[in-house]
Amino acid sequence: MRESKAKPAGKANLSLNGKDYTLPVFSGTEGPDVVDIRKLYGEADVFTYDPGFTSTASCESNITFIDGDKGILLYRGYPIDQLAEHSNFLEVCYLLLYGELPSPQQMKEFDHAITHHTMVHEQLAQFFRGFRRDAHPMAVMCGVVGALSAFYHDSTDINDPRQREIASHRLIAKMPTIAAMAYKYTVGQPFVYPLNSLGYTDNFLRMTFAVPADEYKVNPILSRALDTIFILHADHEQNASTSTVRLAGSSGANPFACIAAGIACLWGPAHGGANEAALKMLEEIGTVDRIPEFIKRAKDPNDNYRLMGFGHRVYKNYDPRATAMQKQAHAVLDEVGAHDDPLLKVAMELERIALQDDYFVSKKLYPNIDFYSGITLKALGFPTSMFTALFALARTVGWIAQWKEMLEDPHQKIGRPRQIYTGPQKREYTPLAKR
Ligand code: SDX
Repeated sequence: MRESKAKPAGKANLSLNGKDYTLPVFSGTEGPDVVDIRKLYGEADVFTYDPGFTSTASCESNITFIDGDKGILLYRGYPIDQLAEHSNFLEVCYLLLYGELPSPQQMKEFDHAITHHTMVHEQLAQFFRGFRRDAHPMAVMCGVVGALSAFYHDSTDINDPRQREIASHRLIAKMPTIAAMAYKYTVGQPFVYPLNSLGYTDNFLRMTFAVPADEYKVNPILSRALDTIFILHADHEQNASTSTVRLAGSSGANPFACIAAGIACLWGPAHGGANEAALKMLEEIGTVDRIPEFIKRAKDPNDNYRLMGFGHRVYKNYDPRATAMQKQAHAVLDEVGAHDDPLLKVAMELERIALQDDYFVSKKLYPNIDFYSGITLKALGFPTSMFTALFALARTVGWIAQWKEMLEDPHQKIGRPRQIYTGPQKREYTPLAKR
């Protein structure tokens, strides 16, 4: 069990209905202090009100820190740009899961454990056949990942640390296999089994793009770019899908069901679905001369149109991941010979115009991770419908690390928010004949 590391940092005073209340304040190692309101309802018979949780800390976490004003993102204290430059996705998985960078021996053992969990139960392949071939890969991922709990009963006891660890390894290892199968199913090609001789991302690219009729050779530059993209998407503190996983896990649901819930939440266009929506937006804009028309719509208070890939609940500065994503976009487009991709030109011009426009500047709307990812993933050969499935593949380690942390937190209990009720007050039933 993990003990709290928050430090007492004084008191907050609240005067309410003629009474005074004192609330403890705590400090973390980085970021804003918190006012502890856990006793507020019991003492003052009031709730706090924060739809969208803009000012609410739902938990204490040691995993990821974001400073939205400064555009800083740390995984277990390591800056995202250093990890993107020097690490690899599987090493980052170890870091997020266990809290420290692995020793060579630890990395060897972890790599062996993950590699030997990449196959899925042969019976699981039947689940795909129930979907139409044109089913969205995220619909397939929700269904198939949720079904994993029907196959791996030996790692669903959430109170057994060893079972929690095996379930974590299984999910990290099997997501690439399942995502590749979801893609193969939509294009009508046979599933490709994982190869233990390949690294994590090489294996995923081969399962996705290899066909039995031909030799498949992994392009190391493209594989490195995708591996870096996975690092950038791995975790992001208490975003909507991670909070969904935590809330599902707080009821004691098994890890496979919790990750399936996270996949469902990530699918939304305001969240992980934005990478697919951003590319569709760039394709709809088509050429640089049409950008002003879309900027105008995004600024129109009577039009709920938004620039996809722009804005963020936390970042009120440039998303550091967007900077790294733009670098990967150039590397991949150069490697595949598409450096003059018109969509990249539209994206860069749209960014340039938006960052000079008072509306975007005043609302601190900057490109987020989803703005450049679509262009890069398209150049890597993925169809638009697979973009969010790739985000889910990479975010699974963050979800499962946060799920594990929640279960080891002695202060966590089932998540059960309250409300301010503005519905009808008590009234008597009127029989139909009298209405
Ligand atoms: C991800 O939380 C995470 O960490 C998520 C994520 C992760 O790694 O897990 O980072 C991944 O989800 C990135 C975000 C991807 N979504 C998009 O790109 C969709 C487009 N962006 C938005 O819809 C929006 O910016 C959100 C959802 C991302 C954030 O919304 P908020 O924090 O609720 O902000 P808001 O909707 O209150 O917007 C503030 C203002 C509003 O104007 P006013 O009502 O104050 O006049 O900014 C405007 C909004 O209308 N605005 C935009 C805009 N985003 C916000 N206007 C035009 N285009 C946009 N993209």
